[in-house]
Amino acid sequence: MKRIIIAIDGPAASGKSSTARRLAQRLGYIYLDTGAMYRACALEARKKAIALEDIPAISAMMDTLDITIAQSPHGNILMLHGKDITDAIRSEEVSNLASAISAIPIVREKMVSLQRKLGRDKAVVLDGRDIGTVVFPQAELKIFMIADVEERAKRRYRELQDKGVIASYDKVLKELQERDFNDSNRSIAPLKPAADSISIDTSHMGLEEQVELLYKLALQRIRSVAPLMLAQHSGFCFGVRRAIKLALDAAMQSPDKPVYTLGEIIHNPQFVKELEEQNIHVAKNASEIIDSIVIIRSHGIAKNEEQLLIEGGNTIIDATCPYVKRTHELVQEMCEQGYPVVILGDSHHPELIGMVSYGNQETTVVAAGEEPNIIGKQKLAVISQTTQKLENLQALVDKLLPECKELRIFNTICIATSKRQDATETLAETSDLMIVIGGHNSSNTKMLHSICSKHTSCMHIETEAELDQNMISTATPIGITAGASTPDEMIIRVYNKIKQIKGESDLATSIRDIPTFKEESC
Ligand code: DC
Repeated sequence: MKRIIIAIDGPAASGKSSTARRLAQRLGYIYLDTGAMYRACALEARKKAIALEDIPAISAMMDTLDITIAQSPHGNILMLHGKDITDAIRSEEVSNLASAISAIPIVREKMVSLQRKLGRDKAVVLDGRDIGTVVFPQAELKIFMIADVEERAKRRYRELQDKGVIASYDKVLKELQERDFNDSNRSIAPLKPAADSISIDTSHMGLEEQVELLYKLALQRIRSVAPLMLAQHSGFCFGVRRAIKLALDAAMQSPDKPVYTLGEIIHNPQFVKELEEQNIHVAKNASEIIDSIVIIRSHGIAKNEEQLLIEGGNTIIDATCPYVKRTHELVQEMCEQGYPVVILGDSHHPELIGMVSYGNQETTVVAAGEEPNIIGKQKLAVISQTTQKLENLQALVDKLLPECKELRIFNTICIATSKRQDATETLAETSDLMIVIGGHNSSNTKMLHSICSKHTSCMHIETEAELDQNMISTATPIGITAGASTPDEMIIRVYNKIKQIKGESDLATSIRDIPTFKEESC
């Protein structure tokens, strides 16, 4: 049987937890009560007397929070710093505090990451508020469970009475309405049905009936899952598309004049060969091109190379990506203002060579994770290669900040790159194997590979010929991602080859045929 993720979201007392727990038992799946995790955060904040407005203290608390969850036939047993808190989190006070603390971004960030880790092996039923929209947007089955608020208040009131707690029905109703309002109206990950969820109204349903219905739906989904998905934002970015279009247009409009790109237009040998066939050639040095059309590729070039091209009487078509162009301007501007510039990136990469050429003798390059040499520098400017990961820039800033009196930081990381990295990371967190497609010398593809490797097994390939048949045939689910220099055509070829290895016949003819993993915006 295929292992899937089942997300059950809905308001408090709609029947999620008891249904989810029973369903998990029946399928032999793990059950994860994510509400209990927010309750644990609330309990800890209360114990430490931390006000919810004190974000630095909440953040520090989250850094050391140690939650472990064990399975039992009665539900999850929750341990906080090694102590069983399963019952302690069920008070009405903690319920209300949990609703409030769950609206704090840092709390959600940590909990969502933990939930993704706990659910990554699949065969899991999770219940909560944002499971289908944020935590596992790729969940194969999403249920949105609702019930009339008065019916829910009656259920909660009866539960309290059974436990011997003295309660007022009106108060229970009012608190439920308040929690519904807070959970549905917060700005981050509010309670709402995922677009592809199935709504079930349990106002007039019994527990057995609910479990039976969900069990049937789960079996249907288990049989029809798509175990091969492409990360959103994979492949060519707009800068690369633009550069290629400019090159093709130039070759078409001037058939009598040679067209060159200075360096490969993208780090993808197969594609470069195809362009060669269309009369677009690669020149290694600016000095070797004379009286031709020259496309400056999206990585940009160094100042002295541009000068050589002008001296050679060439017509220059500048396809430098606007994000890269901005780094050139910033390096120059900061140097003019007297700031020594530290550039984060790979010093051998053409993009970096271009950036450095706009600097001066005080400009230095530091690779991700490397120690910057800033002895005697009182002030500094930090500028990043556009394909870096934000956390690398953050780590560098953390190192520099205590050493300098003045630090000017420019986040020059391209949005398309960060979106691609984020989508890739979430897909990797829930995949058995990730296939990363792109040139072996492509910096942004290598970065995707390193992100995936943190979470799962991973192969970096240029073409479908490099796929490891053994790994493919045993892995499921598989995720695919591709760097900014990977054409759609190559993604389709890799997808189809994987399908063939798996013995499946529904091949893709266009990129739109490939199931794409999408994180819903919330
Ligand atoms: O499901 P519950 O009542 O135990 O959840 C307690 C609170 O935690 C709820 O008011 C909202 C919050 N929560 C959340 O924000 N996201 C989840 N996935 C689960 C719960």
